[in-house]
Amino acid sequence: MKILVTGGAGFIGSAVVRLAVSRGHEVVNLDALTYAANLENVAPVAQSALYAFEQADIRNRAALDRVFAKHQPDAVMHLAAESHVDRSIDGPGAFIETNVTGTYNLLEAARAYWTKQGKPGGFRFHHISTDEVFGSLGETGQFTEATPYDPRSPYSASKAASDHLVRAWHETYGLPVVLTNCSNNYGPFHFPEKLVPVVILNALHGRPIPVYGDGANVRDWLYVEDHADALLLCLEKGAVGRSYNIGGENEARNIDLVRTICAHLDEMRPVGAPHDRLITFVTDRPGHDRRYAIDPTRIRTELGWRPSVTVEEGLRRTVAWYLDNESWWRPLLDREGVGRRLGRG
Ligand SMILES: NC(=O)c1ccc[n+]([C@@H]2O[C@H](COP(=O)([O-])OP(=O)(O)OC[C@H]3O[C@@H](n4cnc5c(N)ncnc54)[C@H](O)[C@@H]3O)[C@@H](O)[C@H]2O)c1
Repeated sequence: MKILVTGGAGFIGSAVVRLAVSRGHEVVNLDALTYAANLENVAPVAQSALYAFEQADIRNRAALDRVFAKHQPDAVMHLAAESHVDRSIDGPGAFIETNVTGTYNLLEAARAYWTKQGKPGGFRFHHISTDEVFGSLGETGQFTEATPYDPRSPYSASKAASDHLVRAWHETYGLPVVLTNCSNNYGPFHFPEKLVPVVILNALHGRPIPVYGDGANVRDWLYVEDHADALLLCLEKGAVGRSYNIGGENEARNIDLVRTICAHLDEMRPVGAPHDRLITFVTDRPGHDRRYAIDPTRIRTELGWRPSVTVEEGLRRTVAWYLDNESWWRPLLDREGVGRRLGRG
């Protein structure tokens, strides 16, 4: 299959690109190369005959039409987005332009291309979204695919809007879509502004490890390579018009996640141990959702998918990867906004 992956130079998109090429798919990586992108993420497959790169912005409809006409994909996997909640608090405009208007452009470009091809039933538009569209849970309960949308940050509101557009293009125009909503990802190649790499890199540098609020916010942690595997399965086997929640089956409080990372570092890089002495509680993010948890029943029963690693094992692999790949993360520390507290509101 020839897959057009948007956002393939980002964290999750690059995991999808690497996995898809390794499985013999042709991949066209379409990415605008924003601050969050890094072509090093796809270096392992960049020389493959199955791989092509197009620098293009999803806000630019004409550029999208050119890419569809040139590459004639069988499917689209749409991951390009502004993805950092804290940045969405400081500057929501970019989130509306890319996540909402950009998704609209991509849907329209895909629809025009699909129509011109004679509306092949096998075509897929796979939209990758987040569990944050469902809002915040109390101590109990889990998000199912039927949970009403209740986004609470500019980021999650923009993703919710994009999900609605994708469903509408299916209902109204018959575009064959599949949607997925996943929980918090972590793993190799994670940009150093997100929690897990911030903890690892601050600990390595002997700097305070910031934990928002009381650290009791709960997330369901999904190893990025497991996520990429689930996404390809949903693309190939998911029912048209259906959405699938993808979770790691690994709920953890932020503070416990941070302590686990510190414990792995104590073992693998004992200089500076115990690293948890660096934990510093800082003012909470405004509107910080308390708990997210995914009910994985649909993807497990209908598609037979389960995550392959526990959060303990995934974090061990992630810490080891950052220790072995300083040449990857070191240059990213100079990018705009990295290492600064963003999103205070
Ligand atoms: N990281 C998570 O935990 C998580 C959880 C749930 C859902 N998601 C969703 O998964 C997708 C990928 O997330 P990620 O963490 O890999 O994000 P990321 O920020 O690491 O990567 C996003 C990529 O999109 C590209 N991009 C941004 N704006 C663009 C534009 N206008 N045109 C073309 N390319 C553009 C960037 O250059 C970057 O390479 C997003 O849609 C996000 O909402 C992420």
